[in-house]
Amino acid sequence: MNHNSPHRASSWQAGPVLGIETSCDETAASVLGRDGSVLSNVISSQHAVHQRYGGVVPELASRAHVEMIEQVTMAAMEEATLSWRDLAGIAVTQGPGLAGALLVGVNYAKTLAYTLGIPVVGVGHLEGHIASAWLGNHQFPLPCVVLVVSGGHTHLYRKDQHGICHLLGCTRDDAAGEAFDKGAQMLGLGFPGGPALDGLAQTGNRLAIPFPKSTIKKGRLEFSFSGLKTALLYKLHAFDETKLVAQKADLAAGYQEAIVTVLVEKAFLAVRDTGVSALAVVGGVSANSRLRTLLKERANIEQIELSIPPLRFCTDNAAMIAAAGRNALQSGHRLALDAEPFTTLEPALPV
Ligand code: KG4
Ligand code: ZN
Repeated sequence: MNHNSPHRASSWQAGPVLGIETSCDETAASVLGRDGSVLSNVISSQHAVHQRYGGVVPELASRAHVEMIEQVTMAAMEEATLSWRDLAGIAVTQGPGLAGALLVGVNYAKTLAYTLGIPVVGVGHLEGHIASAWLGNHQFPLPCVVLVVSGGHTHLYRKDQHGICHLLGCTRDDAAGEAFDKGAQMLGLGFPGGPALDGLAQTGNRLAIPFPKSTIKKGRLEFSFSGLKTALLYKLHAFDETKLVAQKADLAAGYQEAIVTVLVEKAFLAVRDTGVSALAVVGGVSANSRLRTLLKERANIEQIELSIPPLRFCTDNAAMIAAAGRNALQSGHRLALDAEPFTTLEPALPV
């Protein structure tokens, strides 16, 4: 069987949950306490491994996960000051992500759960990001709109209850994080590009060099960022070398502004369309300083309750996986011992 088995009679004895995340280039483990509080959150980033290639190299990612998973998990247990027998369950990212990288986490989690005689559940990576909205704010209400903005996804959902999301719209081409990473690459910034571009933009004038904002008319809640990338390329070609150095920060600020204003516009459009009064924005790009500022300003004006996770829960981490896993364990979901990871977005999994 390839999936979690849903809707089994819930016999789970609530208690601490270990979360494990290895879908891409972060090896992460985290323990949530019985009440859902984060007892530990350990992340080992592989950025140094992939930096010179300008992107994640799947084979290197898998090897680095194999090297790190044991010590990251031990560190999370130690930080939580718990022993193995205190754990009531394990949650692991089952997909989407890099096949070899996911396999490391899934096999490790299954083996650990089997050895300890506790249940294990597979969690969708997006489901984890969505759960992160409640990590810093347990009282955040439902129903709400959730905008997931990461390296691979720009998805708007309406969420009515835990485990159920209704897709409102997504990107037609690049994800917002991809637009940041590719823009940063064009500007000669490091990898990963998002944080570097964010940093440089803070020193620039966002109005100096305007970029087109892609507001797709037909698909009100859809996004498109590929044209923006092309616009940056043309502007870069138009500058000579000396001018480019002087205007790099303005370019970064203008480019970033075009991405984040569209994200904010569409997120609040979704809030208006659905009639809900709460908005969560999650995923790596939700760490962006300008996006956070604009979201807070707009939420304030429109009297919308806003949840943006604390920075440590925006980019990939295992606390979010443990949080989503906790809900799934509670609802009776379990990962079969012969279950495999999935590499693309799995519509059958609850988000
Ligand atoms: O959620 P995440 O850690 O991994 C995926 O699930 O993809 O998101 C990673 C993405 C990358 O594209 C990265 O450049 C972007 O999030 N990111 C940022 C910032 N921090 C991370 N983008 C803009 N500004 C940031 N401060
Ligand atoms: Zn992610």
